[in-house]
Amino acid sequence: MTPLAPLESLLDQAGGDDFPLPPELATLYGPLRFPLRKGRPHVIGNFVTTMDGVASLGAPGLAGGGPISGSNPHDRMVMGLLRSVADAVIVGAGTLRSVPNHLWTAEHIYPPLSDSYRQLRVTLRKEPSPLNVIVTARGEIDLGLPVFRSGEVKVLIVTNPEGARRIRAGSLPASVVIGEVEEGDAIGAREVLSAVGRILPGEIILVEGGPRLMGDFFAGKCLDELFLTLAPQVAGRDGSGERPGFVAGKRFGPERPLWGTLSGVKRADSHLFLRYEFPTENGSRRDKD
Ligand SMILES: NC(=O)c1ccc[n+]([C@@H]2O[C@H](COP(=O)([O-])OP(=O)(O)OC[C@H]3O[C@@H](n4cnc5c(N)ncnc54)[C@H](OP(=O)(O)O)[C@@H]3O)[C@@H](O)[C@H]2O)c1
Repeated sequence: MTPLAPLESLLDQAGGDDFPLPPELATLYGPLRFPLRKGRPHVIGNFVTTMDGVASLGAPGLAGGGPISGSNPHDRMVMGLLRSVADAVIVGAGTLRSVPNHLWTAEHIYPPLSDSYRQLRVTLRKEPSPLNVIVTARGEIDLGLPVFRSGEVKVLIVTNPEGARRIRAGSLPASVVIGEVEEGDAIGAREVLSAVGRILPGEIILVEGGPRLMGDFFAGKCLDELFLTLAPQVAGRDGSGERPGFVAGKRFGPERPLWGTLSGVKRADSHLFLRYEFPTENGSRRDKD
């Protein structure tokens, strides 16, 4: 396999201290900083879209992020890096259904850098793998999937009482915990974060979507930053099937416009790696610094 070339950094205004990246990751990504604060976790999102904003092609076998990024190795490397600093990775049940064999670990998304990712977690004194968090209202979850059975990750399923009842009717592996919240079909992002907080005092929480869950995090003003990969592809839409952007089920502009602040731009050939800050319920991180 040809070794990856380092990302070209065009803008880096992220605040905070440098994370102690192992040499290979430091060379490929450059410095990685997060404006961490005591008292609540720093919540980041990671998505890839086409130039025309499509996050899922919505076709059988092509619904995941791979066909959007062109299975771009730099995108996978960055996904792995963000997973390797995260205490928990949160996804909606729709994302799990679209990639049923996935584990939300750094090693799983980009195996060539497994050693460096592991080394980073050791240095950061984090568990070997981030807690994998699945959010579902219906609770129609196949407990036979690798994420529940591999033994490589601990899993928290955040759901309502009805979903919990349905899941408990199956055989729950020892690595899986149910975080029951008193909400209906739409579990608020704050409730999801509280359920995660009851399991671990996380410093960095990573939300990997999908669009429905991401909409809830933006609506709850719970997302501090978004790492957005822009793939140089035009997917198009002709109304024959859903091709959502990275937010679905929520509307912000023009009534409640939601603007981000660009804090980072990196490039690998024609792929762009953008980093935006967003205002949270207490104002943006930068405002508070
Ligand atoms: N391009 C990218 O970077 C990227 C990233 C992630 C996903 N995707 C793609 O996006 C597509 C999936 O989209 P999606 O919008 O369906 O994703 P999703 O948000 O992962 O899944 C939606 C489902 O998750 C559960 N859910 C999400 N938020 C919830 C909430 N606040 N409260 C209760 N349940 C909640 C519900 O599950 P139940 O139905 O079980 O109640 C809901 O039907 C897939 O094709 C996936 O591959 C793309």
